[in-house]
Amino acid sequence: MSAIPARRDGSEHSDWDLPRRPAVPRFAHGSRVPGWDDAVDLTKDPAVVPDLATTPVPEGLRERVEAAMSRYPDRRSAAIPALHAAQEEYGWCSPEAIDQVAAVMRVTPAYLTSVATFYDMLVTEPKGRNDVFVCTNISCSLRGADAIFEAMSAAAADEEDITVRSFECLGACDIAPMASVNGEYVGPLERGDVARIVADLLAGREVLEEKQLRRRPCADPGAAEQ
Ligand code: FES
Repeated sequence: MSAIPARRDGSEHSDWDLPRRPAVPRFAHGSRVPGWDDAVDLTKDPAVVPDLATTPVPEGLRERVEAAMSRYPDRRSAAIPALHAAQEEYGWCSPEAIDQVAAVMRVTPAYLTSVATFYDMLVTEPKGRNDVFVCTNISCSLRGADAIFEAMSAAAADEEDITVRSFECLGACDIAPMASVNGEYVGPLERGDVARIVADLLAGREVLEEKQLRRRPCADPGAAEQ
């Protein structure tokens, strides 16, 4: 039998009528999380910053990480661009790549791993080097993006070096349905474009050149360079 008394007018109960759950208890220190203020375990080994002298770092990657660090007053603020540089170098943020960035930035690998595992554009599992993000948000979806995504996934299914994923609004709804291919915005897409995208990527060509957003005629002639 229900513990909630029936309404006088016989109408249905809403969720607001349900008994409230008991409040989550707080601990003496005021937090709901046990142990947050426990002392650190001083018997553990301290986190170690990899030694640059014994950590081989490709010259190009080192230059990009140092350039990123030079743009911020606190070098740790360069974590995201530095990890992107490593991801471009290796295709993903592998433990070795993270060690190399940590050595250049003079931070612990754990610090960088915490950043890499938080942002979903940074990947800590092996993946293809080419990223195809098909927008399946509302504007693109209304113009057939779901079918484009399925066709794109099928077309690249056997290509190890192409990673296809659906994405939330990429901010280019005026060319819906669209995709970001290695950062190049292309649209409006048709089913026939899917095979072209795969072929262009495999050939190392510009992707769907005639449908690139930055090549569209624009009132501002300098917009493409911005
Ligand atoms: S909904 Fe696809 S770019 Fe905005």
